[in-house]
Amino acid sequence: MRIFNLLSVLGFVALLGLSACSKFGDLDTNTVYSPSGNITVQFELSANGTPSYNVSFNGKNVIKPSSMGFDFKDQPSMNSGFEIIDKNISHFEENWEMQWGEQREVENNFNQLVVNLREKESPNRALNIYFKAYDDGIGFRYEFPEQDGVDSVIIMDENTQFDLTGDHTAWWIPGDWEIYEHLYNETKVSEIDALQFVNHENLAQTYIPENAVNTPVTMRTEDGTHLSFHEANLTDYAGMTLKIDTDNLSMTSELVGSDLQGYKVKRELPFKTPWRTIQISEDAPGLIESKLIVNLNEPNKVGDVSWFTPMKYVGIWWEMHAGVSTWDMASGKHGATTENTKRYIDFAAENGFGGVLVEGWNTGWERWIGFPDREGVFDFITPYPDYDLEEVVRYANEKGVQMIMHHETSAAPRTYDLQMDTAYALMNRLGIHSVKTGYVGPLLPTGEYHHGQWMVNHYRRAIVKGAKYQVAINAHEPIKDTGLRRTYPNAIAREGLRGQEFNAWAADGGNPPNHLPTVAFTRMLAGPIDFTPGIFNIKLDGYNKPNNQVNTTLAQQLALYVVIYSPIQMAADLPENYEANDPPLQFIRDVGVDWEQTKVLDGQIGDFVTIARQERGTGNWFLGSITNEESRTVTISFDFLEPGTEYIAKIYKDGKDAHWDNNPLSIDITETELNSNSSMNFELAPGGGLAISMFPKN
Ligand code: NOJ
Ligand code: CA
Repeated sequence: MRIFNLLSVLGFVALLGLSACSKFGDLDTNTVYSPSGNITVQFELSANGTPSYNVSFNGKNVIKPSSMGFDFKDQPSMNSGFEIIDKNISHFEENWEMQWGEQREVENNFNQLVVNLREKESPNRALNIYFKAYDDGIGFRYEFPEQDGVDSVIIMDENTQFDLTGDHTAWWIPGDWEIYEHLYNETKVSEIDALQFVNHENLAQTYIPENAVNTPVTMRTEDGTHLSFHEANLTDYAGMTLKIDTDNLSMTSELVGSDLQGYKVKRELPFKTPWRTIQISEDAPGLIESKLIVNLNEPNKVGDVSWFTPMKYVGIWWEMHAGVSTWDMASGKHGATTENTKRYIDFAAENGFGGVLVEGWNTGWERWIGFPDREGVFDFITPYPDYDLEEVVRYANEKGVQMIMHHETSAAPRTYDLQMDTAYALMNRLGIHSVKTGYVGPLLPTGEYHHGQWMVNHYRRAIVKGAKYQVAINAHEPIKDTGLRRTYPNAIAREGLRGQEFNAWAADGGNPPNHLPTVAFTRMLAGPIDFTPGIFNIKLDGYNKPNNQVNTTLAQQLALYVVIYSPIQMAADLPENYEANDPPLQFIRDVGVDWEQTKVLDGQIGDFVTIARQERGTGNWFLGSITNEESRTVTISFDFLEPGTEYIAKIYKDGKDAHWDNNPLSIDITETELNSNSSMNFELAPGGGLAISMFPKN
């Protein structure tokens, strides 16, 4: 292994076909090395022709030989009987630019092994497997090439195994076919029990058929290696959960199915599956810095999307979750009135926030949650009579604020499909360039699930159609993020986790303080999160919510703008709660949303994380640090700052006596000067945080 570390990496841009042992791999042993040589993937065919792979990191096995294969309807399985027909190893490197993102430039540098397999006996079907080894992890995918005798497949099961090397500590949510909005659990792999979450009290729907977990699922081995399992470029295929074998410490792909179709995936040949990915790092921060998932996606296919600009936004949203107003009009407490919207537009304009989201503006809200017959109910064109859409847009334009559209489908995607063109054309005409979509409830038709192939294709249609009409999509109750923002930069953000809303109404009291320090190392590895931070009225005072509150300090709410990545960040609280608390609001006014670079300075899964990000265009730096229910001292060395430049720093830290439950509003705001030689200690309160803005002097 060391030999390969010592060899310098030459600037190969083209793919090179190689015949024997090289610094890219060893064809004799079917092994491919990552560019620095820290990671190796080896393919093997057993005596009976079963394909398998294993993975090593720094010379140590991290995935034991794990088998691969498929079961089909009306065709024999493809699990063994293969021989290698051809193979090849190649190298690739490029730098590409994110239209918006955690960093501007991304290095995409890997070595690839392709193995072409064919069954030795009839029907002699062919299957190709691609392995890419990066310095931050690996990806592999299957290709069903064009071949005689097979023009399509109906996949009943994909049998990709991940055989673990020990009883690792795992951070996981259940492999629910309907929803990702579960809290993360921290257990040993041998103790994973997903079935306990069937029919969870806080969720309108769950469907957890197996003891399986959803991805990303993150693990730490005994010797401190960090692994996260996920998928990239989920296209025309079912989402993958991972079934856990708690005895043998192994996981196997369990694709989300369809009771209506009775299969998992149906495809015409040729096609390629999504990439199966494993991010690998010596430490937890390395997982967040990894760009494996976006790198395994294809370059931009929709051209210039500069009609979308990253922004902060406010909206008629939290007031419904807090019970102040309602989405529907019949209650007499309708939130989305023209007058109320203008109030939010004024607030956005005064504070430099780019957008205003309005939920509950359109007809249909009388029949959403809890109604089984939700087809044809929501209308994405017709406003309630007390909401003047054209006037609101006119007023927003006058104030220099963009409106953000809202389409709650109530998980009736066929109704949405029928109206998508008209609804996006309306947005296009009004100059509204982004929409928040929602899919609350059990999916219709019954028997399809949120994460199956049918819905994967629906969510994709919205993105592709959106690009056509210059509409960017922020989906709630989405399909998981698999890095498609590289190909479709109008896929700007999504929910796909237990968001801030749970703090307003969950029967269990909301998200515990360890939630976000876990999310940063799990869900966030998939991509941008519309978490909607910035609640200042932490105790929900005045809202008749005796059993709910936000379970963080105010300083942590600020830190989340840096810690949680999204090109759109909501200032989620009501204008009056910000107006009553102006000094901390300054941080939200100042903080960036689009980044030149990101440095994950420190962190441990579920405990704490500290991230610094430099804003594009201004050179300003922002830092966020959050902790779980434990207080802790974080030492920050500011060596990420530009050497030789002095920065004016505004520090927003927990007050001495701050505590997420007893004293969440205690915050200490100070100003100082910093440079790249500075180092400081900060105390984070239980459930607390730290936010710092740093502006270059002059
Ligand atoms: C669920 C979304 O997550 C939430 O943000 C939204 O307010 C409701 N659906 C209504 O669409
Ligand atoms: Ca939700």
